[in-house]
Amino acid sequence: MTTEQTADWTVFDTTAAAEADLRIVDQFTADPQRLTRMSVEAAGLYLDLSKQSWSRRAFETCIELAYDAGIKTAIARLFAGEPINSTEGRAVLHPALRARADGQYEALGEPVSAEVDAVRADMAAYATAVRSGVETGATGKPFQAIVHIGIGGSDLGPRVVWDALRPLSPDIDLRFVANIDPRDMAEALTGLDPETTLVIVVSKTFTTQETLANAEAARAWLAAGLPDAGRDKHFIGVTAAPDRAREFGCARTFAFRDWVGGRYSLWSAVSLSCVIALGPEVFEALLDGAREMDDHFISAPLEENAPVLMAMAQVWNVDGLNRPARTVAPYAHALRRLPSFLQQLEMESNGKRVHRDGTSVDRQTCPVVFGEPGTNGQHAFFQQIHQGPQVVPAEFVVVRSTQDPAPEAPLWANALAQAQALMIGKTEDQARAELLAAGASPAEADRLAPHKTFPGNRPSTTIVMERLTPQTLGALLALYEHKTFVEGVVWDINSFDQWGVELGKVLARAILKDVAAGAPSNDLDPSTADLLQRLTP
Ligand code: F6P
Repeated sequence: MTTEQTADWTVFDTTAAAEADLRIVDQFTADPQRLTRMSVEAAGLYLDLSKQSWSRRAFETCIELAYDAGIKTAIARLFAGEPINSTEGRAVLHPALRARADGQYEALGEPVSAEVDAVRADMAAYATAVRSGVETGATGKPFQAIVHIGIGGSDLGPRVVWDALRPLSPDIDLRFVANIDPRDMAEALTGLDPETTLVIVVSKTFTTQETLANAEAARAWLAAGLPDAGRDKHFIGVTAAPDRAREFGCARTFAFRDWVGGRYSLWSAVSLSCVIALGPEVFEALLDGAREMDDHFISAPLEENAPVLMAMAQVWNVDGLNRPARTVAPYAHALRRLPSFLQQLEMESNGKRVHRDGTSVDRQTCPVVFGEPGTNGQHAFFQQIHQGPQVVPAEFVVVRSTQDPAPEAPLWANALAQAQALMIGKTEDQARAELLAAGASPAEADRLAPHKTFPGNRPSTTIVMERLTPQTLGALLALYEHKTFVEGVVWDINSFDQWGVELGKVLARAILKDVAAGAPSNDLDPSTADLLQRLTP
């Protein structure tokens, strides 16, 4: 099973050209089954894609394209642990991290599940010991705070999980440090006592400049407040390079393998801090939800497959209708970090311009992904989404109310209203009539009506979470992972490398050398040389 299929886009392109002016609202009458056809339930999530800009024909064309691109084979290859990260020769096996105990996963033919189970058990035992006070710090006091140091995939996933699931008064205070700006560390350490603080350094490679600099700073902070004996109990490493972590000074490490991509790693020991702060049962439930989404992804036909539908809506918007941005608005304060998480997941995975064989992509790939929690975003950039000249597809994530009166109702009512307003809009005639009805003169109504007109016909997807639980959160994050994977297959790009972040890292090291030398090197361009001199103290 090694063949890769590439899709034929001809029908997709002709359908998109034919449907450029289609009105979404009209499609509900054209296809009475539209809502059923374009909505799906999976793993405690309900997805409504009926407000997307596709007719029934376009929807079916997109599904055909997905079949044509070989999604079913690609899913099988992913789950079989084949080297689908072709530029690094690696398997991509994050689903193995959330498999049931005694799974049968193999990466490049090597069994991995026993090791996954062992690390998970080790994490649970350690977390229980820390939570119960059996595992103490150097001076015998129980740990009350964790400082999680990591960046990118070693930060964003656990942060989403903690923000979404943290109790209001947690027994263990969990703080995150990512930025190399010392201010980030200083803020995180404020009010903490080294005697009761556990520092967890998370880095897949253990070479990341920001993380190592922050780890050094945290280590110095621990050294200033603790005796030598037992101090290493406060400084834990999580990594795919345990030798490097030990060399750095982490006596105890929790490991994962290179077949876990950084931005897909929250299911691994990368979330150790959450396992401790939330408890192993919560983490297990998160994995359960993700596994339910895996099962759905593997088994559902493509036309009823949640990640596939999400992916194809995006491909339709980006490639069919030339809409190179998408906004994500979680209408739940607990999910406020979701847009940042998705920015890395999607843009680092699919922000690519060459196919898997190295030839140029002549279509659009990943859109710009941005967002804010609702309703905050409504009072910031939604003006542009409603009336700007570009069409920016939107995604609303809402949580179903379970209480009466429903505390979430003001949130989801706003989300529903936004999605409706984006789709139906308001014509200039309607705007003028409203102005006249409100007492404006005809001249005043004519003057103001264009400003109060909404073009409408702007697409959105709404995702309803059946309560915000560890399970549904796991399902939601896995949904987005698989969506990202499907897009990569359809665009025929490698979603699992990130060479685009390397050049800047190399140049930053060179600039720091120049700073140390006290002068810009000769090969710096005039602008960068001037900026360097202005900034050098
Ligand atoms: O610079 C990007 C990146 O390589 C991400 O892919 C990764 O998640 C992040 O840096 C952190 O890397 P590490 O976990 O190796 O410190």
